[in-house]
Amino acid sequence: MTLIDYPGLWRCLDDLGLGDCREQLEPLIRRRLSDEGHGDFRAWREVVEELNTEAGNSDVMRRLLLRLSPWRKGPFELDEITIDAEWRSNLKWERLEAGIAPLNGRSVLDVGCGNGYYALRMHNQGARAVIGLDPTVLYVMQFIAVQQFFHAPAVFVLPMRLDEFPAAQSFDTTFSMGVLYHQRSPLDHLRQLHDTLRQGGQLVLETLYLPGEEPCARTPPDRYARMRNVWLLPTIAELRTWLARTGFEDIRILDKSRTTPDEQRSTEWMTFESLATALRPDDPRRTVEDWPAPRRVIVVANSP
Ligand SMILES: C[S@@+](CC[C@H](N)C(=O)[O-])C[C@H]1O[C@@H](n2cnc3c(N)ncnc32)[C@H](O)[C@@H]1O
Repeated sequence: MTLIDYPGLWRCLDDLGLGDCREQLEPLIRRRLSDEGHGDFRAWREVVEELNTEAGNSDVMRRLLLRLSPWRKGPFELDEITIDAEWRSNLKWERLEAGIAPLNGRSVLDVGCGNGYYALRMHNQGARAVIGLDPTVLYVMQFIAVQQFFHAPAVFVLPMRLDEFPAAQSFDTTFSMGVLYHQRSPLDHLRQLHDTLRQGGQLVLETLYLPGEEPCARTPPDRYARMRNVWLLPTIAELRTWLARTGFEDIRILDKSRTTPDEQRSTEWMTFESLATALRPDDPRRTVEDWPAPRRVIVVANSP
């Protein structure tokens, strides 16, 4: 079984003016989706193949899908199976869908797309083509597993980081959600996002921020909300400066929210500790490291 519809992918990249990138991308994708990409790749591949042969047997399929745990993003409704992931990702989508430029007919890049939950939502909104990028091979395998339940031929999730994908002013809309604070160099990330967009294209950025009016950013000395890989947290005023300095215009705040254990929690599909244990039991407005508890902002901005 082929994990990626390569002919479909090349057609899609041709349509985006990226046909020349095939020689660069194909070996990278094939290497990542192999034993070289991850020690557990073979086991994940077996799950995906067995799912294909067990179509119609919900009990077996459910057990197979559980073998691709942890499921961070969802929920997915797959025939009689509900994947109740750690995140109720539909809540974030509801916060942004009415405020962004309508996706109908647009080409979309979703950077840090995880298992493609949002990429499929974007396709449902009529996007012409959706390319998701994520270097975590397990999440790419989750997408390949759920993709078997949907007819979404113009949606691709590729196992790579943004800086490995040669987008040059190709997309109408680029999403980066939950990614910026994982970058050691957030301004470089924003500039790379800018370079993926055609003139007049829209960035949809969702990220953690710190409360306060001052333009400033802080780096947690160790973990933040138990996460090891959080580098720089800006206030919204500082985030606006970052966006303006990396070339964006018409910067608008769509939504601000606090993340709660109602939205992010352990489930049967993600059995590790979740947000509740990252907050102080005596004061859930603070993290266990005594930082402000997670707040997220959704911003849209245009590439002039
Ligand atoms: C917190 S998750 C966010 C997933 C999803 N976008 C969401 O909003 O729920 C961050 C994802 O970004 C991916 N990631 C981190 N750095 C990246 C990069 N430079 N390019 C693409 N993806 C990246 C990680 O593998 C991870 O799946």
